[in-house]
Amino acid sequence: MKPFRLLILASGRGSNFEAIAEAVKNGAIPKASVVGLITNRATAGAVSIAKNRAIPCRVLEKSNFLGPDGKWDRASFELALEREIENFSPDWICLAGYLLLLGERIVGRWKGKVLNIHPSLLPHFKGLNAQKQALEAGEKRTGCTVHVVTPELDDGPILGQKSLEILASDTVESLTTRLRPLEHATYIEVLARLCGPQEAK
Ligand code: GRF
Repeated sequence: MKPFRLLILASGRGSNFEAIAEAVKNGAIPKASVVGLITNRATAGAVSIAKNRAIPCRVLEKSNFLGPDGKWDRASFELALEREIENFSPDWICLAGYLLLLGERIVGRWKGKVLNIHPSLLPHFKGLNAQKQALEAGEKRTGCTVHVVTPELDDGPILGQKSLEILASDTVESLTTRLRPLEHATYIEVLARLCGPQEAK
């Protein structure tokens, strides 16, 4: 039986990427293979993780896609990204701290197949600095959400959530640190479910 092909898109530290790769390796996501990483930052921690684990990595930086006016040519970047994604033939595209918005064309082409992890209990606190938003709102609990990506920011169907209590002593940093293992567990649970008994293709 062919494994489900997971493609990760990440821009930063890559702890979710690493947790997914490890879960695939140790059988927690049994019917999957991490086929590649695409990043928009050559210096991202995720790139070293890919190298250490011999996972193919492609870097697409905005600065290599400038128009005649010297500004980012989003359309040609998106086209190149679409080709890179296509080359990996993914069953699931997992955004894991990917900091650029995916264009509607890509989201439409892989409709329902692009997932994201967000550090809040969606639909609350969409967008950037979700932990800070939760703290400033005086919430008693917050958490993380894995959801399907749609053209609207942090808005698609929710596939999994986990929550924790916000402590009086919590800062953005402590909350981020405490949320991280919850994020990993949520992503792994969702992917194990999605890479279920049916065959990938
Ligand atoms: C996580 O907090 C995730 O919720 C958000 O970006 C962060 C990525 O962290 N979308 P990491 O790079 O996986 O450690």
